[in-house]
Amino acid sequence: MQPDLLPDVIAIDGPAASGKSTIGLMLAQRLGYLCLDTGSMYRALTLAAILKGISPDNENDITRLASDCDLAIIPLSGETDGRHYTVMLNGVDVTWDLRSPQVDAAVSQVSTYPGVRSRMVERQRAVGRRGRVVMIGRDIGTVVMPDAGLKLYITASPEERARRRLIDRVRQGNDDEYQSILADVVRRDQMDGSRVLSPMRPAVDAITIDTTGRSAEVVIEEIMSILNLNHFQPEGRA
Ligand code: DC
Repeated sequence: MQPDLLPDVIAIDGPAASGKSTIGLMLAQRLGYLCLDTGSMYRALTLAAILKGISPDNENDITRLASDCDLAIIPLSGETDGRHYTVMLNGVDVTWDLRSPQVDAAVSQVSTYPGVRSRMVERQRAVGRRGRVVMIGRDIGTVVMPDAGLKLYITASPEERARRRLIDRVRQGNDDEYQSILADVVRRDQMDGSRVLSPMRPAVDAITIDTTGRSAEVVIEEIMSILNLNHFQPEGRA
């Protein structure tokens, strides 16, 4: 692939903690693209429901909330606390709150609701239409952006994913147990992969990359060579 033939939309799907968010952000930075992590949209809605005391089982109220809540995802502008972007919910920075065990426990349920998905997909496609975007999720290559020029499915073993999530949590000050994180990762894989609407799965034309035991840098080099861009620098960069 030549640099002038770069895909306008790169879809990255894969299970929880597979490394897809880190890799998606690094890739977007290398290409000078916007990065949209759609999981954060489902997480922000889940947090909004928790804050309002709405049960994750209450489909009607959660669907209404999906239309009503004011959600914005803002690219990095010099923050150094390890965030990949800033998420504002009703004007409040909730970036780190999205990663709490309470949100982890409820988000797969919230994201099964058809009314929720249609509103989220609408917003995601609006970003996709602007182009030059790396979009990360579970159903980007299959449902949200089926015409994406490059589709990647990033995966890793459940044990490796649980270890990565544990490291993230300890960094954030939550000392969770590895076994309970592993159980949660497996539970979410099961829910995300078996739901009726837009289940998590690789698109037929996706390239699957297993990141188990590999650093993000090594994976990025593999993707750059898929793009034929090993020496590519985006415009405006040295
Ligand atoms: O990638 P993540 O762990 O932040 O995603 C959180 C949840 O959101 C995940 O369990 C399933 C849901 N999700 C989804 O259903 N569709 C997407 N495109 C992205 C996330």
